[in-house]
Amino acid sequence: MSRFLLACRRQPVDRTPVWFMRQAGRSQPGYRALRARYSLLEICRHSDLVAEVTLAPVEQLGVDAAILFADITVPLLGMGVAFDLREGSGPHIHRPVRDAADLERLHPFEPEETVHALLDAVRLIRRSAPVPLIGFAGAPFTLASYLIEGGPSREFLRTKALMREDRRLWDGLMTRLTEATTSFLRAQIAHGAQAVQLFDSWVGALSPREYAVYAAPYSRRIFEAVRETGVPAIHFGTGTSGLLREMASAGGDVIGVDWRIGLDVAWAQIGYDRAIQGNLDPSLLLASPEVLRAEAEDVLSRAAGRPGHIFNLGHGVLPETPQQRLRDLVEFVHAYRPAAVV
Ligand code: CP3
Repeated sequence: MSRFLLACRRQPVDRTPVWFMRQAGRSQPGYRALRARYSLLEICRHSDLVAEVTLAPVEQLGVDAAILFADITVPLLGMGVAFDLREGSGPHIHRPVRDAADLERLHPFEPEETVHALLDAVRLIRRSAPVPLIGFAGAPFTLASYLIEGGPSREFLRTKALMREDRRLWDGLMTRLTEATTSFLRAQIAHGAQAVQLFDSWVGALSPREYAVYAAPYSRRIFEAVRETGVPAIHFGTGTSGLLREMASAGGDVIGVDWRIGLDVAWAQIGYDRAIQGNLDPSLLLASPEVLRAEAEDVLSRAAGRPGHIFNLGHGVLPETPQQRLRDLVEFVHAYRPAAVV
């Protein structure tokens, strides 16, 4: 079994596996050249292009896993939500969801109908990929925040107001998003994805109590559905230093952590019955090689040779990141040998 899948299962590995969130994207000159001709959603409609973009970082960086090239907004296409993806900011929803009539306009997402090219790409990638393929989806809270705010947000004021004041509408929206995400992940797994990651990127906006009430029950249903497939699941969010216990309780074989907490402190909170992924600050790839190496070594040393650490950044690769720095980091992680475990 590959070192990435072994680490997901907390089995011993020959070297620490490493991959990067957003490894396939704007930091890559090849991707930027392709984007000059096609929009992101156009790329997602061509399985050969999806496979090409997905596999480029595996070939060029030497990472231990591929992540399917898509976006968390893809299921919204099938739900009948009109939006555009703006570079540098993200999804902009033409008509945000604010009341029961808006909710009624959402359709169930049928992956085989709406995104068959992406699913074909999963099979295509599996035929030639030398490393496991990770499928992914957005978690209900993070998707709901885009639908309600209409775009990126700092404070999530409308989302929080709706969640607290209209329990029925919140439950209706979160239930639909839970179903869409579950269908999307199950379809990716059925076509060959060997692990999945649930991105709850913005859930760190919630207190532990509100997370447990308003977000965890929906994410938990998704992890229960994935568990039936036997494929390992990664549960990721940012700003979640105070939520790690609750996130682990909602589910995931691997918990993803950002850089705002020491990896050792995070792992103790999550519990050693789970694997951990992260937690290097992505901006360190723009620092000097010496500083980058020292901080990467610090992350590795905090894992203390315990099986089940997947090296990654605390969030996605920044567009300004030089490819050579990523290659050097992969080499550094692979060369690292932990001090004897006590
Ligand atoms: O290798 C990979 O990880 C690339 C595949 C990928 C994309 N989006 C492509 C993309 C993945 C895993 C995502 C997930 C995603 N999308 C998340 C969760 C991860 C995270 O960063 O928290 C979120 C919140 C989104 C929503 C989204 N889509 C945003 C915020 C943006 C703008 C980002 C920016 O800085 O421009 C997008 C657009 C997007 N999705 C781009 C890419 C490569 C860049 C713009 C483009 O190429 O058109």
